[in-house]
Amino acid sequence: MALGKNGLVDPCEIDDYIAHDGYAALAETLATQTPAQVIETIKQAGLRGRGGAGFPTATKWEMAANNITALRQAAGANGHGAPDTYGYVICNGDEGDPGAFMDRSILEGNPHGVLEGLILGSYTIGANVGYFYIRDEYPLAIEHMTRAIEQATAYGLLGHDILGSGFDFHVMIARGCGAFVCGEETALIASIEGERGMPRPRPPYPAQAGLWGKPTIINNVKTWTYIPLILLKGYEWFRSIGTPNSPGTAVFSLVGKVNNTGLIEVPMGTPLSHLVNVIGGGVLNGKKLKAVQTGGPSGGCIPAELLDTLVDYESLGNIGSMMGSGGMVVMDEDTCMVDVARYFLAFTQIESCGKCVPCRLGTRRMLEILTHITTGKGTEADLQTLEEFALSVKATSLCGLGQTAPNPVLTTLKYFRHEYEAHVREKKCTARACRELVSYSIVADLCKGCSVCVRSCPVDGISGDKKQPHVIDPEVCIRCGSCFDVCRFEAVMKE
Ligand SMILES: Cc1cc2nc3c(=O)[nH]c(=O)nc-3n(C[C@H](O)[C@H](O)[C@H](O)COP(=O)(O)O)c2cc1C
Repeated sequence: MALGKNGLVDPCEIDDYIAHDGYAALAETLATQTPAQVIETIKQAGLRGRGGAGFPTATKWEMAANNITALRQAAGANGHGAPDTYGYVICNGDEGDPGAFMDRSILEGNPHGVLEGLILGSYTIGANVGYFYIRDEYPLAIEHMTRAIEQATAYGLLGHDILGSGFDFHVMIARGCGAFVCGEETALIASIEGERGMPRPRPPYPAQAGLWGKPTIINNVKTWTYIPLILLKGYEWFRSIGTPNSPGTAVFSLVGKVNNTGLIEVPMGTPLSHLVNVIGGGVLNGKKLKAVQTGGPSGGCIPAELLDTLVDYESLGNIGSMMGSGGMVVMDEDTCMVDVARYFLAFTQIESCGKCVPCRLGTRRMLEILTHITTGKGTEADLQTLEEFALSVKATSLCGLGQTAPNPVLTTLKYFRHEYEAHVREKKCTARACRELVSYSIVADLCKGCSVCVRSCPVDGISGDKKQPHVIDPEVCIRCGSCFDVCRFEAVMKE
């Protein structure tokens, strides 16, 4: 569905897209549908935004359309000249989650599909100007979208009087500079306006007062891609896939300790187990599954016992995780869940824009505690402090970044508390992953004295005569594990 035309059409050839039903929805809609009818179809389809929160798309569009109509009527009544536009549509192509590349693939592989959605959205809400906000790290996406805009303009699908309908729409590309927070809609708007990308309190929502104060609709790349498909094939078709509350498909980038990695698209409501064991081909090297992390840095860690959970907004939310925009990381028995929480929090802490105190200081303090714990300096009291911080940062942060940053901490505390307790009570990392808590030694009986470990050690911490058992100097060892990795005789012990 969302990925359907990827690999099927040449992204640089508008004719190829048209040959695969491209722009048919636009032509038909402009000729036969009023904006109100389009909103009704999207409402019936039950489409929910794919940028993370799953907000109903039609609700947002209806609000913006009403506000734009009110502005137009007010301007007419005051006898003012018409501005370029009374509102805006924006495609959110920021995609800041580490490891996620779904939106990038669609922008690169099917730019006309997203563009057609944006034109349809602008017609529906009555906006005449739109933006693609694409991060600068996606140069191919920017190149392909630039070409798509040029081709669509040349074909009369963009610009003045589109397909003779009397409707005008102009679109530009705004390049984001790669800050995670700029994916948040109000920060994104500030960024397009040339301000520092920082969020602001809502309301007013962008649909009320967005870009340059005008009603604005922001949707995710995938959300826009569904629009022409729904209008062409009908809302019944869309609703026939997925679940009643979350119709359609979910797109994930499946990564981590799984045999098959890559982009996948499944009907909403598919069990996680199907994604990991069937599509993903099971855990790498036959190891045991420990957890699945969904929703990127804002999501949560789902333990192997809950692998029957269905992939949809409600089911994932109920167990403390979220759909997010589609990152999915599979973790095996060698993964330390405390270290995972520290990893994601290190990301959100550095990406926090610093505007609100809970997020700026709370994520920093939480990261300090997690670092203490993973280096063997944590105490029992730290666990309680960590949980208290996590709950208050979640409850009091200004935007979704801070409100969701504690999720990896809260879910690992909930489902893997025993791992935290082993770190603070016994100074032990049960997964043997936290560097400061592991030690390496050589089993004399197994060591053949081949010296491969000596050559791999970056700090000259291993000694021994040729063909004699070798020894690791614990004072010199930096616990990098290279000796463990290179030994062919399993003589290096990791404890
Ligand atoms: C920190 C943060 C980052 C976000 N990043 C993205 C992003 O990269 N892409 C995206 O579509 N939405 C992102 N969102 C969600 C947007 O704010 C917004 O809800 C979304 O673009 C709306 O589109 P939708 O209704 O189609 O989901 C982010 C939100 C937060 C709080």
